[in-house]
Amino acid sequence: MFQLLDGKATAIEIKNRIANEVRQYTQQGLRAPHLAAILVGDDGASQTYVANKEKSSHEVGFTSSVYRYAEGTSERQLLETIDFLNHDEEVDGFIVQLPLPGHIDEQHIINAINPKKDVDGFTPVNLGNMMLGEDCFVPATPKGICTLLRHYEIETEGRHCVVIGRSNIVGTPVANLLSRKGFDCTVTLCHSRTQHLSALTRQADILVVAMGKPEFVTADMVKEGAVVVDVGIHRVADASRKSGFRLLGDVKHDEVDERCSWVTPVPGGVGPLTIVSLLENTLQAYKRTMAL
Ligand code: GUN
Repeated sequence: MFQLLDGKATAIEIKNRIANEVRQYTQQGLRAPHLAAILVGDDGASQTYVANKEKSSHEVGFTSSVYRYAEGTSERQLLETIDFLNHDEEVDGFIVQLPLPGHIDEQHIINAINPKKDVDGFTPVNLGNMMLGEDCFVPATPKGICTLLRHYEIETEGRHCVVIGRSNIVGTPVANLLSRKGFDCTVTLCHSRTQHLSALTRQADILVVAMGKPEFVTADMVKEGAVVVDVGIHRVADASRKSGFRLLGDVKHDEVDERCSWVTPVPGGVGPLTIVSLLENTLQAYKRTMAL
């Protein structure tokens, strides 16, 4: 029987801890931490992510703001807003929701963020410090995965961890973090050009799937007793649901779960931990600003 790496329950616990800490500060008369977001265009998934971030911010006692721009907005406009947020002393951290429209150079935008406020951990300074094992903001999804593995005391030392997906946001940083001291995994990073993918994934004691294809990982790709972390989240049309859609991960759970020792559900697995990690990073930025 498999057990669930319950992101939702873990996130509630961590949010309670953050809320208690924030209450202590505000009761002393300090201002609350503030998380801002820049959102460009009308992408449904991005709107949902940002709405969830705002809701969670308020649940733990943060204040928040969202700077919304039309799809056609210019790079210059975004750079101006970033410059404003970089200098606003009431803003502890902010994120630029990705993806950005095609006419905007994403890395150029990210590079403009003050690393001290880069609570997504996407700037070269934070990613570089993460690689070096120095103090930094760790990107939210990889940090959330690490938190979940720690929370459930998953044995990682010397284990073979196979990561599918090499994005800057998830695959590349999580591969780095799990190979470091503390986790001590032996990591294989697979991607769209990897040969004999199934032969590699079948060797995984821990399989992290972050490649963005609904139900890509099937039972034949998973070793009996593996720990499977599913980072994917996709809306697929489903007329039988009131919402008109259901959520699928990158893993075909109806056949994979029974092979696992531990598995993250979708939804309620990695997603809630991503948001909580962003809150943790924002609290860290706030404490640094307020010299706490
Ligand atoms: N798009 C998908 N995931 C993320 C994330 O963690 N941060 C931002 N800014 N955009 C995203």
